[in-house]
Amino acid sequence: MERIGILTGGGDCPGLNAAIRAVVRRAVGVLGSEVIGFRDGFTGVLEGDVRELTLESAQGILHRGGTILGSSGADPFRGGGTERIRATLRDLGIDGLIVIGGEGTLGSAARLAEDGIPVVGIPKTIDNDLSGTDSCIGFATAVQVATDAIDRLHTTAESHNRLMVIEVMGRSAGWIALYSGLAGGADIILIPEHPFDLDEVASHIRRRHLKGHSFSIVVVAEGAVPVEGTLVVPEYPLDERGFPRLGGISQVIAPHLERLTGWVTRVTVLGHVQRGGSPVAADRILATRFGHAAVDLVSAGGWGRMVALRGSDVVDVPLADATKVRPVPEELYRVAETFFV
Ligand code: F6P
Repeated sequence: MERIGILTGGGDCPGLNAAIRAVVRRAVGVLGSEVIGFRDGFTGVLEGDVRELTLESAQGILHRGGTILGSSGADPFRGGGTERIRATLRDLGIDGLIVIGGEGTLGSAARLAEDGIPVVGIPKTIDNDLSGTDSCIGFATAVQVATDAIDRLHTTAESHNRLMVIEVMGRSAGWIALYSGLAGGADIILIPEHPFDLDEVASHIRRRHLKGHSFSIVVVAEGAVPVEGTLVVPEYPLDERGFPRLGGISQVIAPHLERLTGWVTRVTVLGHVQRGGSPVAADRILATRFGHAAVDLVSAGGWGRMVALRGSDVVDVPLADATKVRPVPEELYRVAETFFV
């Protein structure tokens, strides 16, 4: 394997640079290959926009959030497709491509692999909802950020006898909400997997306050939905790729909860803070292991596969596995429910 290409696609997250560094150290430092970075996701491959990643350029980035390569949700099939990508790789003499991405980017990578493009995937998304792996780069940091925020909301909620609603990311699955809610001691956690009924939520909160508690914390995933027919949720605007731009469910539910409980309510939407900043140690280690394993998978010709975590082992699975949503298991939700009042 003489030349490997690498890109980061989709929403960024903490730990991408740690993965890039591991790829460079393993490929360049140990195996003597070259690594070519494509800028801004698949845009860089379509346009041939590259930078060589030397050992020097991958120095000092382990702890840095974001991605030194830039990222985008560009769909390679809208910009020239397989033939254009094949031509870029051929022109640059690249033997294989490492794609670091979430559902959308790895979905494109899976299609490219079917068309014979030599691709290996690395899973990342703070949402942690890719089906082929037990964990994705970025999740641990997002959980820590959200947990810190819940801790902070606790103290101010307590001072003012308030109901605090905190909204975290989680488009199709409620991993961040559930983990941060458990770690931060939330009183209610609303996730996409379990449609909510605000009357029930409000009676939980009322019961809690009747027992003498002076405040409550509700954690809601941005993708949480009401039980059909119980609440009208406004349509989300579409983003540049045509997907609903989520965010704001907390503002919809907060006035209802205030009315139903009688408790003064405040809303915090964490948003992209969860995707920014330095990765926590667990993300640095996961990203490093994934980057190392991806280079070895490339060397072994494991095209069309993705590195993944199974238990505590790094394994590889078909790329197509990354395109299904991995919901929060029922068992975990049951644990959380124990603490809902
Ligand atoms: O990375 C996944 C995610 O964080 C989703 O939870 C969220 O809906 C989305 O990205 C927002 O991404 P952007 O604002 O970059 O389109």
